[in-house]
Amino acid sequence: MVGPLGGRTSPEIIEAMKQMEVPFKTMDDVDFEGKVVLLRTDMNLPLDPKTGMPVDTTRMEVLAKSTLTELLVRGARVAILTHQGRPGDANFTTTDLHAKLLSNMLKTRVKYVPDIYGSTAIEAFKKLREGRYRIVMLENVRMDKDEMIKRPFEKQAATKQVQVLSVLADIYVNDAFAACHRNNVSLTGYPLVMPAVAGRVLEWEYRALTWVLKHSQPPRIFILGGAKLDDVIMVTEHVLSTKKAECVAMTGVAGHLFLAAAGHDLGEVNMKVLERKGGLLLLEDAKNLYEKYGEKIIMPVDVAVEASNGERAEIPVSLLPLNRPIKDIGSRTAGIIEDKVLNSKTIVMSGPAGVYEENNFIQGTKMIAKAISLSEGFSVVGGGDTVAAIRKLGMENGFSHVSTGGGALIEMLVENPLPGIEALKRASIH
Ligand code: 3PG
Repeated sequence: MVGPLGGRTSPEIIEAMKQMEVPFKTMDDVDFEGKVVLLRTDMNLPLDPKTGMPVDTTRMEVLAKSTLTELLVRGARVAILTHQGRPGDANFTTTDLHAKLLSNMLKTRVKYVPDIYGSTAIEAFKKLREGRYRIVMLENVRMDKDEMIKRPFEKQAATKQVQVLSVLADIYVNDAFAACHRNNVSLTGYPLVMPAVAGRVLEWEYRALTWVLKHSQPPRIFILGGAKLDDVIMVTEHVLSTKKAECVAMTGVAGHLFLAAAGHDLGEVNMKVLERKGGLLLLEDAKNLYEKYGEKIIMPVDVAVEASNGERAEIPVSLLPLNRPIKDIGSRTAGIIEDKVLNSKTIVMSGPAGVYEENNFIQGTKMIAKAISLSEGFSVVGGGDTVAAIRKLGMENGFSHVSTGGGALIEMLVENPLPGIEALKRASIH
């Protein structure tokens, strides 16, 4: 697979994206035959808190289909690094499960190594070099106490992890796009001391998102939802002030925030949700954006609430406040967004439009996703919940690019430098 991570891009656009200059070396620039590759991935999976089993394995599937398959076909032996969760959190686990899942996906044995750069890891690298192993999965890299400390890249390169592993491997491949907004040892240390290139996932995330921000055709619409409200404010401000988008549609809790900023009383139960999500602190920002950009911001005109019998009931926003939880945009709002989408040449969707986990309230997200799949425009969908909603609907092939990033995607959309990519830019091929 060499192209955007979605099912719908014209061959002409793929070709134009391939011609774009990228500021780092890619897998095309190196010969992998017989080489030992240290592959930093992001296989950080959402785990069910009760069973500990993954609820979605998209990130791993994408890596298996693209970079990992290519590395094996091209004769490399691979040591995989990934993080899983954050120290102290319930989803902070070892990577033996990841090794098993990946073995099934690749139909090749992936040896779990319960070590990162100690004697067990060194032994595993020896076996890789001798060809006795083809792929090993090193331990969760965040079990290295140094991993998450932010330092200048030179200091990351001087840590024990990098000093040991950079000698054991021949080439470093960074394919952890979704973690590239972190200045962590395994993301920013290696490129300074060994040959380093971007993997296919990172490369095509970069190409697709740079395409949207620098080369895409207007009209461009961003559809922002979900409940990460500070991200919504940041992206809206950036894309409207820099004219990267002609309009931004607000859905999900983001829609509630903008309705409240425009003076609507949502009812006690909904104002409490907004408060819990940090929305009350952002009311002033939302108000300023609304006043500054007026009709470039598409607001909900109706909402779907949960009626007392648990069913979906739609009401116009003029009938608010109502003391029932708002769980989706209404059909009129979805219809307005649909029309805009069908007339747009570029579409970005981040954040679901409603509580997609409940079948009664996935409708808004479904209507928008359907319109995107019918549109001729170049489309990007991203963010963990949004991709989960799209997969639940079975509509992931309706987009040009399905981003694996959450925070990293937002940082790209607001054009902040990503440390993982900045470090790769400094790599030289020896
Ligand atoms: C993500 O899931 O967004 C990435 O894996 C980064 O994880 P982090 O927010 O724990 O650094």
